Amino acid sequence: MRITDTSDLWWKTAVVYCLDVQTFMDWSDDGMGDMVGLTERLDYLHELGVTCLWLMPFYPTADRDDGYDVTDYYGVDPRLGSAGDFVEVVRTARDRGMRVIVDLVVNHTSDRHPWFRSARSSPSSPFRDFYIWRTDEPPDTSQQVVFPDKEDSLWQYDDKAEAWYFHRFYRSQPDLNITNPLVRDEILKAMGYWLELGVSGFRVDAVPFVIETTGVDAQELARFHDPHSYLRQLRELVGRRTGDGILLGECNLPHKDQRTFFGGSDGDELTMQFDFIGMQNLYLSLAREDARPLARALKQRPAVDEQSQWATFVRNHDELTLDKLKPAERDEVFAAFGPDPEMQLYGRGLRRRLPPMLDGDPRRVRMVYSLLFSLPGTPVLFYGEEIGMGENLDVPGRLAVRTPMQWNAQPNGGFSRARPSRLRRPVTTGPYGPEHVNVADQRKDPDSLLSFVATLIRRYRESPELGWAEFRVLDQPHRHVLAHECAHDDRRLVAVHNLAPGGCVVPFTLEGCDSSHHLVDLLHDDVEVAIDDRGRVEVALEGYGYRWLRLVSRDSRRLT
Ligand code: NOJ
Repeated sequence: MRITDTSDLWWKTAVVYCLDVQTFMDWSDDGMGDMVGLTERLDYLHELGVTCLWLMPFYPTADRDDGYDVTDYYGVDPRLGSAGDFVEVVRTARDRGMRVIVDLVVNHTSDRHPWFRSARSSPSSPFRDFYIWRTDEPPDTSQQVVFPDKEDSLWQYDDKAEAWYFHRFYRSQPDLNITNPLVRDEILKAMGYWLELGVSGFRVDAVPFVIETTGVDAQELARFHDPHSYLRQLRELVGRRTGDGILLGECNLPHKDQRTFFGGSDGDELTMQFDFIGMQNLYLSLAREDARPLARALKQRPAVDEQSQWATFVRNHDELTLDKLKPAERDEVFAAFGPDPEMQLYGRGLRRRLPPMLDGDPRRVRMVYSLLFSLPGTPVLFYGEEIGMGENLDVPGRLAVRTPMQWNAQPNGGFSRARPSRLRRPVTTGPYGPEHVNVADQRKDPDSLLSFVATLIRRYRESPELGWAEFRVLDQPHRHVLAHECAHDDRRLVAVHNLAPGGCVVPFTLEGCDSSHHLVDLLHDDVEVAIDDRGRVEVALEGYGYRWLRLVSRDSRRLT
């Protein structure tokens, strides 16, 4: 890898930051975050080291799924600002060296989208075939619903249409009929619009469902033989229109299936995918204080094309899903991090943020973020993680983790000067409330979590071998320790993490090394670790300790 490759395939060493405009910063004081508020906070994100913003849906919406139910693919929710305000976000972010990607929600529309309103009104509507209909009684699909607390079928009877329509998510989100070429053209056109406004790609919502054809009748299916060819088309469009735009796909699938969604060895479908399997096994490892589930998951990642990339994450805006663990494993994680039924959701996940799950233990929280940034891949942060925000369990369902960003200790955490009752969502209270957890205090404190995360980001960006990694788990005797190496050409970084509270010494051997090499600790100033003539190393770790060690040879010219 040449250093110039990192600016070419920029997403392989990016630091992605997910935020929802409506809960980030309210500049108009109406209680709702807005584009102007986000623009005012871009310098904060730049200072943190973020290189790519992922904006959750900000389109006009019926607001039955927090914006994931779009009523207009070409607009900005007027409560958040105008299209002009959006362009100002993108333009100012670009000036600060940050790209912007936006959520692309095209598995479904809102049932209030003009297409669906027309479709349901008459069988002869030009939009009827934009959705998936049946007139005979649907089978029992209660086991397949995504939100079992609210839905018991994938089909909803519509009185106006006198037919059932298919919906993978809530009934207010009718699925688009992707076998219809007119639908596919509309999606490409909408993407082209946002690309023209300067975005660098999309976080693609619910990708496996976007290209699934469940419920489509045989005749329609016959015109759509290869659903993956559609993903290739989306990727080509982004490539043609921008040169270096990306698709970051949400595919919560087993690793082997994710390879298919990358486009296999051709790498011509999704540019990046979240590593849900790695994330779920991270929590199992934390719960057991045993690094092996995580190590196994990482080793099982399939090899992917050089342009493809894994997106690593600790938390996102949804429930912390544990759906790919075995039931007994899931129960272990529930018992460790969310024993109370009100912390759990859909029988498969937790509606919590990380610090409260770890009882606020700062050593453990830092160890987890150190791990996140040292894993092979591109790290994705969810807003507020950098300051250690907690959830608000009084807020229903998944929204518990989507409370306003906490900027300072003032009323509403500095998010808005509106009356608390007018806020988009209540601020977190208690030990994780803004009096205790906020940006303003942590910015001034070099020992804060915020300062620590900024350091991790700086070190991550200085170590492109993490993003381009050839990854290896190093043999060592402790179950509770993960020692791994990320290497690319002559760049090599060893990371050692202790998942347990007791200190230990970790011996391991580095292939191809001898006493002419040494290791430089990137997180603790002025510490060097020796390597003996046979490549053997011993590293001391405190309880929940972590070390990032850069391999340096005698003739190395890298800055340390
Ligand atoms: C996945 C999104 O992350 C989630 O928040 C949303 O409810 C569903 N897709 C439906 O769009």
